[in-house]
Amino acid sequence: MNLYVERINNLLQKREEASLGGGQKRIDSQHSKGKLTARERIHFLLDEGSFEEVGMFVTHRTSDFGLDEEKYPGDGVITGWGTVNGRLTYVYAQDFTVFGGSLSETHAEKICKIMDLALKNGAPMIGLNDSGGARIQEGVVSLGGYADIFYRNTLASGVIPQISAIMGPCAGGAVYSPALTDFIMMVENSSYMFVTGPNVVKTVTHEEVSAEELGGASTHSTKSGVTHFSCANEIECINSIKQLLSYMPQNCEDDPALWEYESTGNEIREALDSIVPQNANQPYDIRDVINNIIDEGSFFEVHQNYAENIVVGFSRIGGRSIGIIANQPAYLAGVLDIHASTKGARFVRFCDSFNIPLLVLEDVPGFLPGTDQEWNGIINHGAKLLYAFCEATVPRITVITRKAYGGAYCVMNSKHIGADMNYAWPTAEIAVMGAKGAAEIIFKKEITAADDQYQKLAEKEREYSDLFANPYRAAERGFVDEVILPNETRHKLIKAFKMLENKAVKNPRKKHGNIPL
Ligand code: HXC
Repeated sequence: MNLYVERINNLLQKREEASLGGGQKRIDSQHSKGKLTARERIHFLLDEGSFEEVGMFVTHRTSDFGLDEEKYPGDGVITGWGTVNGRLTYVYAQDFTVFGGSLSETHAEKICKIMDLALKNGAPMIGLNDSGGARIQEGVVSLGGYADIFYRNTLASGVIPQISAIMGPCAGGAVYSPALTDFIMMVENSSYMFVTGPNVVKTVTHEEVSAEELGGASTHSTKSGVTHFSCANEIECINSIKQLLSYMPQNCEDDPALWEYESTGNEIREALDSIVPQNANQPYDIRDVINNIIDEGSFFEVHQNYAENIVVGFSRIGGRSIGIIANQPAYLAGVLDIHASTKGARFVRFCDSFNIPLLVLEDVPGFLPGTDQEWNGIINHGAKLLYAFCEATVPRITVITRKAYGGAYCVMNSKHIGADMNYAWPTAEIAVMGAKGAAEIIFKKEITAADDQYQKLAEKEREYSDLFANPYRAAERGFVDEVILPNETRHKLIKAFKMLENKAVKNPRKKHGNIPL
């Protein structure tokens, strides 16, 4: 064999070796747990044949604990770039078959190299995480590697979209990089995230808790809100990443792609006329409103099972990407509480960072009263949502479907805090508070003095309601730009978002704002 052929064969053999990660036995073990390998995940994520790998032959530099005898090309993470639906995307996928995907100094360097490329070239960064955390044999260089990644996550925040999928264990340092990114997806029953695992919890707090209960997808999608999406399996998770990316631009200087949209000429949606119930205290599902406004089937809900009193998600209207923030009357009457405010604020800030226009659907009785809320800081947390709307410079439209009461009226993208177009349905009620509460306060003396207090209260309630339980006071002032028929909402929104497409607003120059945290 001549030297040339020998060298070619040598390279091919090294590639073959690298493709096996920690070996066939560990790959089989990965499969037996219902998990894909790192390479298989990349294969399903990227367009066929588009993956270009970087650092295939990198190995660790540790000799402690006999590790110089155990080296695997790639060192537990596959990194590179490719395309998702034709758009450049950078990716890393941790390989659990190599030291449990644990993060060594060189493993971290590989991730940092790809993150630097993503940031310099302005394209999304996707992390597929499956890791036992810091490489225990390496000590501080591994911790330093994590910190190098956290630093880059933070610098990239608001510049390029960053998405993390959790597809296996994610303990210790491994949770903080995902937490710094824009969206987290978890796979049910095979992924978990926690700062300290069940054993440490038991030692320190004497609580007995399983890994799943402590930090599984169900816990983080309902209780903590750490994950934005809970996916039934890995393929669903990867498809969700692709769908999520479809609403986003490549970076903060770019606009989201405009999807082809052919109007049928009839954008009237009569179903909208009968969604809000006659009785103002009766609930309805705001998703029925959303689905009758947007391009069919385009709603992609974020944080679906967390803080359900507010619904947020991406969608398209007339082919245009928008972010929707909607009070949900079907859950806690759509009241704003701590979790709903934080959920809404984070979503508004993501959309504003990446030039995605905002649509607010408003039906909110106010902020949730009570010691639990006050003692846990509803003032600060509610202020987050207020702050997020106030600073947003993207096109912003509000539709008040029913209640817009009190502070929540101001917060939910009111005209006063920079909304561009404010519409109200004829069913809108815009006031400081509900008619009953208002009557009880301002007519207290008259009601107390009345022979029939019940009848007096009802009379005064009606009086207040006649004055304020409608959209016209606000419309007279121009706080509402137009009172519209529910059925014409889609038509109005398509036109208004188009009208606003070249909106240019610059907030005062600053180093950065100081959002209440
Ligand atoms: C080195 C590790 C490792 C680690 C797992 N392995 N975690 N090697 N460093 N952190 C190796 C195992 O030795 C094993 O090697 C292989 O990966 C698979 O691990 P198993 O335990 O057999 O798998 P499984 O039963 O599925 O359990 C997975 C696991 C468990 C839950 C992740 O391995 C585990 O608890 N690991 C330690 C987690 C941890 O405490 N990490 C440190 C966090 S502290 P072989 O050769 O048998 O295949 C941290 C601090 C950072 O991250 C702070 C930064 C701010």
